[in-house]
Amino acid sequence: MANNLLEGKRGIIFGALDEKSIAWRVAERAVEEGAKITLTNAPIALRMGKINELAEKCNTEVIPADATSVEDLENLFTKSMESLGGKLDFVLHSIGMSPNVRKGKAYTDLNYDFLQKTLDISAVSFHKTIQTAFKLDAMTEWGSILGLSYIAAQRSFPGYNDMAEAKSLLESIARSFGYHYGVSKKVRINTISQSPTMTTAGTGVGGFDKFFAYADKMSPLGNAPTDDCANYCLMMFSDYTRMVTMQNLYHDGGFSNVGVSQAIMDKF
Ligand SMILES: NC(=O)c1ccc[n+]([C@@H]2O[C@H](COP(=O)([O-])OP(=O)(O)OC[C@H]3O[C@@H](n4cnc5c(N)ncnc54)[C@H](O)[C@@H]3O)[C@@H](O)[C@H]2O)c1
Repeated sequence: MANNLLEGKRGIIFGALDEKSIAWRVAERAVEEGAKITLTNAPIALRMGKINELAEKCNTEVIPADATSVEDLENLFTKSMESLGGKLDFVLHSIGMSPNVRKGKAYTDLNYDFLQKTLDISAVSFHKTIQTAFKLDAMTEWGSILGLSYIAAQRSFPGYNDMAEAKSLLESIARSFGYHYGVSKKVRINTISQSPTMTTAGTGVGGFDKFFAYADKMSPLGNAPTDDCANYCLMMFSDYTRMVTMQNLYHDGGFSNVGVSQAIMDKF
């Protein structure tokens, strides 16, 4: 289903670790739709993941960057513009990690050094990415920057732990920077709030299988699969959504607007 939606566009895709990653599918689909991209991930993920396989498939280059390091981000944007031959039309920030979740710390017993890391990696890195692009004037007019979020930014999901705070901050950065970047360069910034998805980051959340099944039964259309999330990202990079900015966009099969579903009622 390729329609040359991104013909002639250039972009950076953060966060492809393996074929389950949302970013992996976005990268594959963006190239199918005619875009030229660079891929990036943290140096440790480059050693552990399979990003080089993806780079070969997409005929592109991997530029390592820890998204919490402004220096790495400057290098990434500069090299991407060189390698792709001009300013960028889109950026996908697809990054999440909580040391508190990883180490099994309860929300009522958070380690605050870990919390700082959660926020820096999963949210402040979005600001650092955007600010780097802004200072280097790396985006074209009407360019599109996207982050991936989850509805725990609005409602409480006990197993989601301190990632809920990170997602609230991420969505707030999209609104705040969306204002400034919109006014000065007509660049748009949005977050997509995706259904639970079976990836490394997703399945790291406590009780993920039940969480996934519950959301699936609550959503009139079922949980949104990775491929559909990738397509929504492409649409947000395309010229069809030029006037959409500063939004948190639910991509969740309707979950966010359901109080209770018959399928859940039937369980009682
Ligand atoms: N899986 C879900 O259920 C779900 C639901 C809604 C939103 N999301 C969001 O989607 C995004 C992508 O996650 P995913 O589910 O594809 O999982 P994933 O584990 O495949 O991707 C997370 C990525 O973050 C990268 N990362 C971690 N620390 C980094 C750092 N310091 N610098 C650069 N990169 C770093 C990892 O290497 C990995 O590639 C995340 O923001 C996640 O919170 C996921």
